Amino acid sequence: MHAWKACVPKGTGGSNPPPSAIPQGLLKPPGDSDFFHFGKRIRRFKNEHEGDAFPPMAQIFSPRANTFARIGIGGAVGLVIAFTWTWNTLYWSPYATWVGVPREQPVPFSHKHHVAGLGIDCRYCHTSAENSSFAGLPPTETCMTCHSQLWTNARLLAPVRESLATNIPIRWNRVNDLPDFVYFDHGIHIHKGIGCTTCHGTVDQMPLTWKANTLYMKWCIDCHRDPERFIRRRDQVFNAKWQAPSDQQEEGLKLLRDYHVNTTGQLTNCSICHR
Ligand code: HEC
Ligand code: HEC
Ligand code: HEC
Ligand code: HEC
Ligand code: HEC
Repeated sequence: MHAWKACVPKGTGGSNPPPSAIPQGLLKPPGDSDFFHFGKRIRRFKNEHEGDAFPPMAQIFSPRANTFARIGIGGAVGLVIAFTWTWNTLYWSPYATWVGVPREQPVPFSHKHHVAGLGIDCRYCHTSAENSSFAGLPPTETCMTCHSQLWTNARLLAPVRESLATNIPIRWNRVNDLPDFVYFDHGIHIHKGIGCTTCHGTVDQMPLTWKANTLYMKWCIDCHRDPERFIRRRDQVFNAKWQAPSDQQEEGLKLLRDYHVNTTGQLTNCSICHR
């Protein structure tokens, strides 16, 4: 029986196609060469996929996508770094902190002239620094104790005279200004031996006042952690020329005990400054 006869479905009535309609290849008994080619294909398939644990998977991304992904990730990381750097630089720069930037004032009042030059004590003008939370700014009358006799016609002092005549205080631009949610108290710092210049810098050398420190939270806490680095004798608190002695560490630790400074670590509690 010919091979094709077996392929005729049952119930077709046995109307076999004429032998001429049958493809020649089917009639030919399989020769050696067919097996040879089939074997070669198996071998080729094995060679191609030798060692593959899994059958080959459809490729979702083109090979170029790898390059794009690398550029993309690299770019994102770069952006984050650049942003952090810029933010950090700005946060600590004078643009944000105002540190070292002389503040314009309605009257160009000079601590350099009045403190270093004339030797006036801080308390003459900042009367409440010692005993109150505010150091306070001097009223016009304080200036006029001298300037009603000195420099009486100076143009620089015109706003001072006007303030006295109209009874409207001079509006000084604030140099140091904490946000309202921070509690600060001058009195306790002065009382425990922290000097004006530790926080405000060498005010006696400033022709126009500037901020000497950021007043950022980190700055407050850095001192609250170990105040022995800054503490001085109480009678030196107003001395703008005070310099830390070479044995500040020992002297500081001694003063912490003498002045009963709280060294329990409570000074860094949030509720100390945020009440
Ligand atoms: C003759 C009066 C006078 C004396 C003395 C004086 N100050 Fe002042 N101080 C002022 C006036 C006025 C201002 C406001 C204008 C300004 O900021 O410069 C001021 C501002 C300041 C400020 C900035 C206030 C703010 O806005 O944050 C600080 C800090 C300060 N004084 C510290 C001192 C210290 C420390 C001393 C002593 C070494 C001192 N002052 C002595 C009159 C005085
Ligand atoms: C104890 C006296 C005294 C008091 C108080 C005083 N001044 Fe003067 N002020 C002087 C003298 C003296 C000069 C002249 C300084 C010089 O030329 O060396 C002066 C100069 C000035 C000048 C001219 C610019 C300069 O610095 O040389 C200004 C502005 C001034 N004072 C503003 C003020 C203001 C504002 C106050 C009040 C916060 C004040 N002064 C309080 C004595 C005083
Ligand atoms: C522990 C740091 C510290 C010390 C010490 C200190 N100050 Fe201040 N001072 C500040 C801070 C912080 C502010 C801003 C306060 C605010 O905005 O509430 C300030 C504000 C001021 C002001 C502006 C007016 C006011 O009361 O807010 C003056 C004036 C002043 N200080 C003068 C002085 C004088 C004078 C001394 C020394 C007797 C002194 N300070 C010691 C931190 C200090
Ligand atoms: C140079 C050191 C120094 C700096 C800077 C400083 N402090 Fe202090 N602070 C002290 C010392 C010392 C005490 C006293 C601790 C005690 O009561 O024994 C104190 C006490 C205080 C207290 C009172 C704590 C109490 O027991 O009631 C407050 C509030 C405070 N600081 C807030 C601040 C704030 C806010 C800043 C920053 C703007 C600041 N301090 C910066 C040294 C510092
Ligand atoms: C010694 C004083 C002090 C202590 C203690 C303190 N802070 Fe602050 N904190 C400050 C000051 C000053 C600022 C304002 C800083 C500024 O002007 O940006 C601040 C600002 C902040 C802000 C506003 C965001 C910022 O950083 O400006 C947060 C939130 C805050 N503090 C949370 C805390 C928490 C939480 C704790 C306790 C772990 C704490 N603080 C302890 C002084 C303090």
